[in-house]
Amino acid sequence: MSEPVVLGIESTCDETAAALIQGDNLLSNVVASSMDQHARYGGVIPEIASRAHAESFVPVVSRALYEADMDLAQVDAIAVSAGPGLAGCLAVGVSGAKALAWAAKKPLYGINHVIGHIAVTQLQFGPFPDNTLALIVSGGHTSLLHVRDIARQVDVVGSTLDDAAGECFDKIARLLGFPYPGGPHIDRHARLGNPGAIRVPQGLTKGKAGAEHPYDFSFSGVKTAVARWIENQEAAGREIPVDDVCASLADSVSSVLTRKAVAACERFDSDTLIVGGGFSANSQLRTGLREAGEREGIKVRIPRIELCTDNGAMVAMLGVNLVRAGIRPSAPDFPIDSAMP
Ligand code: KG4
Ligand code: ZN
Repeated sequence: MSEPVVLGIESTCDETAAALIQGDNLLSNVVASSMDQHARYGGVIPEIASRAHAESFVPVVSRALYEADMDLAQVDAIAVSAGPGLAGCLAVGVSGAKALAWAAKKPLYGINHVIGHIAVTQLQFGPFPDNTLALIVSGGHTSLLHVRDIARQVDVVGSTLDDAAGECFDKIARLLGFPYPGGPHIDRHARLGNPGAIRVPQGLTKGKAGAEHPYDFSFSGVKTAVARWIENQEAAGREIPVDDVCASLADSVSSVLTRKAVAACERFDSDTLIVGGGFSANSQLRTGLREAGEREGIKVRIPRIELCTDNGAMVAMLGVNLVRAGIRPSAPDFPIDSAMP
């Protein structure tokens, strides 16, 4: 049998995206973002994002088919992110995908977006070793996952108990006057600052009632500590050393992510760590993970940036894996799940 052709559709947040993959070959990857429309509000406005998906859905899917030189009849299956994400946004993408699948009589897979972030690394690095750890970090998620079989068994090892790492960066960036999304601005300024200038707590080490959380994260305390420090400086009439604040924040967040990812690799005896999600564009994290990987003998797979951020290829690539594994398509009435674990 020739390699399956899968159309992947993504609409969990502010990107409307579609891609075509045949086997392990990316044929097209089209992304339309409503980010500019959210910038002045300092964060994604779900209502605006949902409307933008409704407007972009058909143009983006058509463009992906056109660039791949295919029509819908040549596609073997369609995959769409069914969660986690913003409910109104998911509803647009999933309804659109259901309509396409029904009209063209194609099998449809409602997939987990976070697992898509793992699957997409296959395009750059090839198939997964059997026992792999994944660190997925973005504005919406911060998770450590154990991948036994990308099509059948991915287990949660740890996740954030409150804010995602990207969310924490975006909130501090806002206090420093940077537009949304502020993560890349913090990254840029952090390169110029002293990471030891300000004491920033290192996220979670122990949970409530002394319970250990060796692989979970918490960034809300980090955010509050930095916000309070900035407020105190302002109240005292002192200038904010922006580069040093950014460097200290970036150092705290990237070290805790690196430390726990390495600990999880040791716990599961895995020699491969996959990294994904928009925050994996962060230079402090990329450097920290690469250095730790060399030191600890872990192969760190961080994909090129356009595969890290939300896109259709991640959905299509997971779809290809499901088709290859002979997994049954989703039922026609499958629900969206904005809090999908
Ligand atoms: O995966 P993504 O495109 O969207 C979702 O949140 O699902 O990730 C976007 C997040 C934002 O919080 C953004 O500020 C952060 O990733 N981000 C960065 C960098 N590039 C994007 N954070 C820190 N450093 C960066 N270079
Ligand atoms: Zn994402």
